[in-house]
Amino acid sequence: MMRKYQIATIAGDGIGPEVTQSTIRVLREACGSNVLDFEPFEGGAAHYRKTGDVLPKDTYAACRDMDAVLHGAAGLPDVTYPDGTEVGNDFILRLRVGLDLYANVRPIKLLPGVASPLRGFDGGGIDYVIVRENTEGLYASRGAGIVLRDELAFDTLLVTRAGTERIARFAFELARKRHGAPRDGQARVTVCDKANILRSYAFFRAVCTDVHRQYIDVAIDYAYIDAMTVYLVKRPDFYDVIVAENLFGDIISDLGGATVGGMGIAPSGEIGDTHALFQGAHGSAPDIAGQDVASPLATILSGVMMLRWLGDRHEDERLRQAADAIDAATGRVLAERRAVPRDLGGQASCSEVTDAICQALAAA
Ligand code: IPM
Ligand code: MN
Repeated sequence: MMRKYQIATIAGDGIGPEVTQSTIRVLREACGSNVLDFEPFEGGAAHYRKTGDVLPKDTYAACRDMDAVLHGAAGLPDVTYPDGTEVGNDFILRLRVGLDLYANVRPIKLLPGVASPLRGFDGGGIDYVIVRENTEGLYASRGAGIVLRDELAFDTLLVTRAGTERIARFAFELARKRHGAPRDGQARVTVCDKANILRSYAFFRAVCTDVHRQYIDVAIDYAYIDAMTVYLVKRPDFYDVIVAENLFGDIISDLGGATVGGMGIAPSGEIGDTHALFQGAHGSAPDIAGQDVASPLATILSGVMMLRWLGDRHEDERLRQAADAIDAATGRVLAERRAVPRDLGGQASCSEVTDAICQALAAA
């Protein structure tokens, strides 16, 4: 009897519904209609506006109890708390903490046919993974910062040994499985911090260095966050795996995304020891929502990450093969420019990109 997988599916806000629909179509085309059950659930900023609840209990329970979570996007700029912060973000931030999704894995890969804004780099020339610590760092104090007398404000940066050890181990394990940096084939983990200024970051660096003792086959490298923004533009091919504190990882993942075609093609997987959630690294883009012009690629490629995660976890070769097939089909569509979304310089709509990938899968 073939195993089936239940996917808690939250379309969410803005372009979330359209890119989620595209992803469901592509994943079904690749896996067959009988392997994945996409169970729809509510959540996000629009849902909060209607009900006062950004992450309903049944949605949380489904995310906890089903095999994986697929999410479109959360957040609307005008749905805010009295302190000015956005409500929609709590959908994802609560799941990160509640399900202990401590590793936010963000592949930055330049695909053939995609023009990088960096001269001299083409398909395969940029291929690294940002491993963003996803449960502590500067985000740990979300909702608990202090504003005093309307004069001063604090948020606290939290770095624990246990939290840093596990994210460092995750990064070194990942580097072992990859093929090294494009420039020299060297398996390398770059620790990205600001250890020259703050004790918390110096501690983060020291703990990563301790963990490296168990991974001497992988090279360790260090970069301060400010310098890193230069290196990721000037020599992105030097990087293989980058491990960073939460906020720094957030920032460089947008920078990295921009170097390989923009946020519309930047996937992410938020992974813990027992749970995982997959969504594009972009936001909800309300300005282009509902017009069928958004690129579905980031969410589709996040779906590919989900298939690999499920495939590895359950040793299900069907899912790993489906993941490879979608990667190949997407690569063909872009390389042959069969359907290129607007943010990559083409004209194709969300549904045209989706159709083209499904056709490429069917023809394979
Ligand atoms: C991301 C986003 C989020 C973050 C939001 C939606 C909470 O920018 O996933 O990178 O800041 O982490
Ligand atoms: Mn971000």
